[in-house]
Amino acid sequence: MIEQAAPRRHVLFGRRRGKALRKNQRQAIEEIFPQIRVPLEETLLDLNTLFNGKAQEYWLEIGFGAGEHLAWQAHHNPNVGILGCEPFINGVAILIGKLKTIGATNVRLHNEAAELLMDHLPDESLHKGFLLFADPWPKSSHHKRRFVTEQNIAALARILVDNAELRIATDHVDYGAWILWHMLRSDDFRWEAESPGEWRFRSEDWPQTRYEAKALKEGRKSVYFTFRRLPRHS
Ligand SMILES: C[S@@+](CC[C@H](N)C(=O)[O-])C[C@H]1O[C@@H](n2cnc3c(N)ncnc32)[C@H](O)[C@@H]1O
Repeated sequence: MIEQAAPRRHVLFGRRRGKALRKNQRQAIEEIFPQIRVPLEETLLDLNTLFNGKAQEYWLEIGFGAGEHLAWQAHHNPNVGILGCEPFINGVAILIGKLKTIGATNVRLHNEAAELLMDHLPDESLHKGFLLFADPWPKSSHHKRRFVTEQNIAALARILVDNAELRIATDHVDYGAWILWHMLRSDDFRWEAESPGEWRFRSEDWPQTRYEAKALKEGRKSVYFTFRRLPRHS
C-alpha cells in the first residue's frame, strides 16, 4: 500500500519530449489526453471506475514508445482495460492517433514514470504486464537506471494477480541476462519457458514494436521472456 511504500528514488532518466508536435498531435494532447489520463490524486486508483465499469480485467504496458503493441492489444482485447505508461509526450500523441483510428476506448494513459503509477495501483489488480524493450542503459555506471530492479519486481509482484503473466523483451544481450538474473531471484515469479529456445520467439498475440523492428534492421535479435506471478498461498 502507498502508505507503507519506501520513498522512491528519482525514477525518470529518458527524454520527455522530442520533435515539435504536429497540429493534430497537439490537439490529441490538449483535447483527448485529459479525457483518458490516469488521475493520481487518489491514494489508490479505482480501476472499475477509471474504465467506466466496462473492463473485465486490467493490463499494464510500461514504456509503450509509439504504442504499436498497446494499440494492437487494445483492438484485439476490447474487454480488457489497458493502462499505458510513457513519459515521452510524442509517443503519447502518436498512440492517441492510433487509438482514434481503430476506435479503441479501453485505454488509459499515464505520462510519467511507471513507478509512480504502480504505487497507486491496488494489490492484485492486474492480469497482465508488458515491459518491452526498456532502455538497456549499457554503461555499467548507468545500470542503476535500468527499470528491472528488485524494487520494481516487488512492485509488479504486488499489483499482479496470482498466475498473471509478465512479458519482458529486450534486444540487448547484457540486459537480457540482467533481467533473467533478477527475475529468477524473485520468489514471486516463475519463468515460463518450457523448451530450450522458446524465448527466441514471440507468440502470435505478441506483435512487434517499433523499437524491435529497428533492432532487427540493425542486425540485433531479441529475446522474449514470459514470467508467471506465482500464487501467493501455494
Ligand atoms: C527503448 S524505448 C522502447 C519503446 C517501446 N516499448 C518499443 O518497444 O518500441 C523505451 C521506452 O521506455 C520509456 N521509459 C523510460 N523510463 C520509463 C519509466 N520509468 N516508466 C515508463 N516508461 C519509461 C521511454 O520513454 C521509452 O519510450
